[in-house]
Order: sequence, then C-alpha cells, then structure tokens
Amino acid sequence: MIKTIGILGAGKVGVTLAQLARKAGYEVVIAGSGDPAKIALSIKVLAPGAHAVAKEEAALRGDIVILALPLSKYATIPKDALKGKLVIDSMNHWHEVDGPREDTIPEDITSSEHLQSFLPESRVVKALSHMGYHELHDHAKPKGSDGRKAIAIAGDIKEDTETVAHLVNTLGFDPLIIGVLKKGRQLEPGNPGFGASISREDLHLRTR
Ligand SMILES: NC(=O)c1ccc[n+]([C@@H]2O[C@H](COP(=O)([O-])OP(=O)(O)OC[C@H]3O[C@@H](n4cnc5c(N)ncnc54)[C@H](OP(=O)(O)O)[C@@H]3O)[C@@H](O)[C@H]2O)c1
Repeated sequence: MIKTIGILGAGKVGVTLAQLARKAGYEVVIAGSGDPAKIALSIKVLAPGAHAVAKEEAALRGDIVILALPLSKYATIPKDALKGKLVIDSMNHWHEVDGPREDTIPEDITSSEHLQSFLPESRVVKALSHMGYHELHDHAKPKGSDGRKAIAIAGDIKEDTETVAHLVNTLGFDPLIIGVLKKGRQLEPGNPGFGASISREDLHLRTR
C-alpha cells in the first residue's frame, strides 16, 4: 500500500504534485538539489503538510518516488537510495533547459528506458510527464467528475503500472496505461501525447 510519496525536485512540477498528493491524503517528503532548509518555507506555504527533506531521505522514505528534476541532472539523483523502489519518471528532455538531447540520452531509446538503465535496481514507470504543471494544478478532479483529464502511464511491469494508475486516480486524473516503457516515446516532446490535457478516450487515440 502506498502511504508516502517521495518527490525529487521541488520546482514547478514537484511542488504541484506535492499539493495534489497532500490533498489525496498521502504523506509527502520532497527534496530539491541541496539543503532542505532552502525549500522549507516554500513547501510549508505551497504544499502544507509536506516535509522538506534531503534528497536521500525523500528517496528512502517514499513508497513511490517521483522524479521531477531537469532530465539532464538525472545522474545527480541518489541512485543507491532508490534501489528496489518504484520510481515514476515525470521528466522530459527540454532543449532550453537540458541542451541537445544527444548530450543526455542516446537517440535510439526513450528517456525513460535510459533512466531505467541508469537505475537497474529500481523499477521505472513513465507518468505525470505530458501535462503542464498549470493543467495538473487546475484540472485535478475526483473520480467520476465531468470533463476529467487523463494521464498516460508506460512501464514494463504490469503490477507497477497498476500501482501508478491507482496513484494517478487518487491525484485527480483518469489513468491510461499505454504499454511498455518504450511506448513512452509517444509522450515525449515532439510526439502526439506530449502536452495533452484531454480525456482518456482522446488520449488513447493520440497514444495508441
Ligand atoms: N514545467 C512543466 O510544466 C512540466 C510538466 C511535466 C514534466 N516536466 C518535467 O519535470 C521536470 C521538472 O520540471 P520543472 O518545470 O518542475 O523544473 P524546475 O521548476 O526548474 O524545478 C526543478 C527542480 O529540480 C531540483 N533538482 C535538481 N537536481 C536535483 C536532484 N539531484 N535531486 C532533487 N532535486 C533536484 C531543483 O532544485 P534546485 O533549485 O535546488 O536546483 C528544482 O527544485 C523536468 O524534467 C521537466 O521536463 C515539467
């Protein structure tokens, strides 16, 4: 059972997900790149009840750990603390922030497959990556609400994608499992699922 969500990255997406996770009743531990004291006040104000901690602690304490940092910084994540964990990759390659893609990820694989090879002892699922943080904030709604938006999920292990689907549902979105990690290409910048803030049916049409 998921009780605690660890979040690495306390920027726009990390804080928005911390807010949604608190609203859904999860314990939240969130880290930026450095001293937790630097983010403690903003977390207290923006995501009340979430705890600002060091990145190793966020990784260790999370039953699920969400990566919400610039993709080009992936090598700075606390790899050992993520051993055995289900890790959600919400990162995208964004040229303005990360520079040329080939400097970070080999061209022939998806960014999440590359992350999985960097974290061989963790289980990576791509999710919560294609919707902008404004939409994540504004469009979260209880299950069954009219006009509920969907979040796509890609991963190699069925139980893990189902666990993430449950999390997505509780955060306020209809989950759509689109297939294995490789299918995450459909969600990357420049591909049909990227930027989508649409219904489950429409997202299915875009990502199949
Ligand atoms: N912006 C969006 O709407 C959006 C939507 C979906 C997905 N994404 C993806 O989500 C990721 C985060 O985007 P963002 O817009 O939230 O970026 P952001 O506002 O720039 O925040 C990035 C955060 O990552 C932290 N960080 C850097 N290295 C870290 C590490 N090793 N451990 C923990 N935290 C670390 C930074 O901390 P410091 O400030 O201390 O360096 C900062 O808090 C990116 O990969 C982006 O492509 C963004």
